[in-house]
Amino acid sequence: MTQKKLKELLASMTVEEKAAQLTQVNGVSIKKDTQAELTGVDPRFAITLDEISRVGSVLNFASAEEAKEIQNRYLERSEKKIPLVMMMDVIHGYRTIFPIPLAMGATFDPALTEECAKMSAVEARCGGVQATFAPMVDLARDQRWGRVMETSGEDPYLNGEMGKAYIRGFHAGGLACCVKHFAAYGAAEAGRDYNTTDMSAHSLAQYYLYAYGECLKENPELVMSSFNALNGKPVNANKGLLIDLLRNEWKFNGVVISDYDAVWEMIAHGYTENEKECARIAINNEIDMEMVSTTYINYLPELLEEGAITEKKVDKMVGRVLALKNKLGLFENPYYGMDVENAEKVFLSAEYRNLARIAAEKSFILLKNEKEVLPLKKTEKIACVGPFAAERGIIGAWACNGRKEDAVSVLQGLENYLGESVPSAKGCGYELLATDESGIKSAVKAAKKAKTVIACIGEYMDDSGEGASRSKLNLPAPQIALLKALKEKGKKVVAVVFGGRAQELDEVEKYSDAILYVWQPGTEGGNAVARTLYGEVNPSGKTTVSFPRTVGQMPLYYNAFRTGRPKPVDDFKNVYYVSSYRDVLNSPLYPFGYGLSYTKFEISNLTISATEMDENGEIEVSVLVKNVGKYDGEEVVQLYLRDHHASMIRTVKELKAYKKIFLKAGEEQRVEFAINEKTLRFYNADFKYVSEKGKFSVMVGNSSENVLEKEFILK
Ligand code: NOJ
Repeated sequence: MTQKKLKELLASMTVEEKAAQLTQVNGVSIKKDTQAELTGVDPRFAITLDEISRVGSVLNFASAEEAKEIQNRYLERSEKKIPLVMMMDVIHGYRTIFPIPLAMGATFDPALTEECAKMSAVEARCGGVQATFAPMVDLARDQRWGRVMETSGEDPYLNGEMGKAYIRGFHAGGLACCVKHFAAYGAAEAGRDYNTTDMSAHSLAQYYLYAYGECLKENPELVMSSFNALNGKPVNANKGLLIDLLRNEWKFNGVVISDYDAVWEMIAHGYTENEKECARIAINNEIDMEMVSTTYINYLPELLEEGAITEKKVDKMVGRVLALKNKLGLFENPYYGMDVENAEKVFLSAEYRNLARIAAEKSFILLKNEKEVLPLKKTEKIACVGPFAAERGIIGAWACNGRKEDAVSVLQGLENYLGESVPSAKGCGYELLATDESGIKSAVKAAKKAKTVIACIGEYMDDSGEGASRSKLNLPAPQIALLKALKEKGKKVVAVVFGGRAQELDEVEKYSDAILYVWQPGTEGGNAVARTLYGEVNPSGKTTVSFPRTVGQMPLYYNAFRTGRPKPVDDFKNVYYVSSYRDVLNSPLYPFGYGLSYTKFEISNLTISATEMDENGEIEVSVLVKNVGKYDGEEVVQLYLRDHHASMIRTVKELKAYKKIFLKAGEEQRVEFAINEKTLRFYNADFKYVSEKGKFSVMVGNSSENVLEKEFILK
């Protein structure tokens, strides 16, 4: 539709029609005689198909067929025939499920992430989806928070890189997308989902806002405002964030959508007295679309009449929604994407499954490999035990229309790979509060003839994700007891650990010879695990969250401030009056950026082209990376910077660049980076993004703790 026609359309709309465009409903009831049963209606804000002309968008529906039916019903009933835009949470796949975003972070591979997002988008469009609520780039430093699984980890820079990759991929696959949750939703106090966030303006600007800002460079169509209160106000009431920063400074002119009934939740926060107040505040802050709650359709006309909101503002907001629909071509084709005929043929194609397997393989992290237990030899007798051995529920939270039945378990993957059956037993359940250890005997029995036992343990997919916070991060006692029993029988124990977050693994360390962390690997998980265990692929994933020794260390992240009393040595028993604990080390069990390989990489010879730089200068940094082991493999070479002193305190180190390289056994390569004044910038005491003269350290290595270091001066 031309801009002129769009303007005319807007000018012809009634106030009620405008309010409808600003409202999104969760599913709509599709009557039994025409389609499926009632789907996804939130009873608090129910809107039936007959009333559908009261809204402008729908989230959640079962299939392309259903999406088409909803659209048809809508168009029959709406006078202006402005199509609905159909949205859904396509986070890491639609039917073919790719590894969770936290696992994709571990690949340090934006190009691969982009490809996975593209394939997800292609499938999702066949399923009738026109826009997705992703990527999520909330910075997460607390593993108790269940939504850690949706982020790329604890590093702002990596979050930004991965967020942009997701957007490019969704766009390439033809989906509109939405950066969320603006802002600082990931800093929920005590890691409890939906909890309050309180932080300094500096931390917000320097760390938490960074990735959202980066993502806007890829022109996402939507931004989602978050549920949380930030520094005393629900985000939907935060003019500073929504108008001053997002609209005026960052010039975002796409659609801002609230999170699920978050406009209405301002009442529960104790910020507004009633729904009308919610609508007034959210409209004045240009929340262009209210998700699920119905305060706009109930009160917008009244608020306009009273002059509490202006027509100009409402038109601006409606204009944005119409522009989104126009960008997707919905006025010409309201069924964009809804490929009823081909959907089933497209889903789970060999090509998608192949990509899902590759992505999973690249996301696995080898945390331990004592005496080179791995890779396994085909001739070795094995058994596969544990609650996740035969489990297909390994696709992760937010798996959209993905089905567990389509997923490959580890046991199945091993049998596919070996072409023979593998002895197996569950041993115990995966439930967080499980106590029953009576099955361990049968697991030990199943492993009787095995030299090496693959123990599939960890966290079930429903125990991370939205609303799935945890107060403990250790594995349930029966799972540890299972490892211990196997070890006591003299078995070599290979722990394959599932999880949607970093868990406490000190006990797993104690009773295992090798640990492969496989996250929630998606549809092809089991095949990917088997191929990795047998060395068809060499693990190359790196942690993007610090793995704690104990939950008491939370929040734990590598890029922390130094404090006035940093701990001098890695000891806690004999140090006093420094920033440390009496009962545990400060350091994580596995630091950010860590991950082993079947081969060994040596990083040496850090050189910098100058020890002084002026503001127009550049320093070249390089290291020699050599594959000194027996296998070909990939290594992630990471560059960190430390600003020694500045007008605002700076962190111990911050990731500024990385390169993932492939080296054949015996091969070496010089890896080069460049630093300039821009790389050194931060928000100073006056909130200016600048660099300050003085001493810096540049560190290069293969984890945040294993680095070589050189100093230079910014003049
Ligand atoms: C609530 C979640 O916080 C958000 O991420 C999601 O997109 C919406 N629900 C819609 O499902």
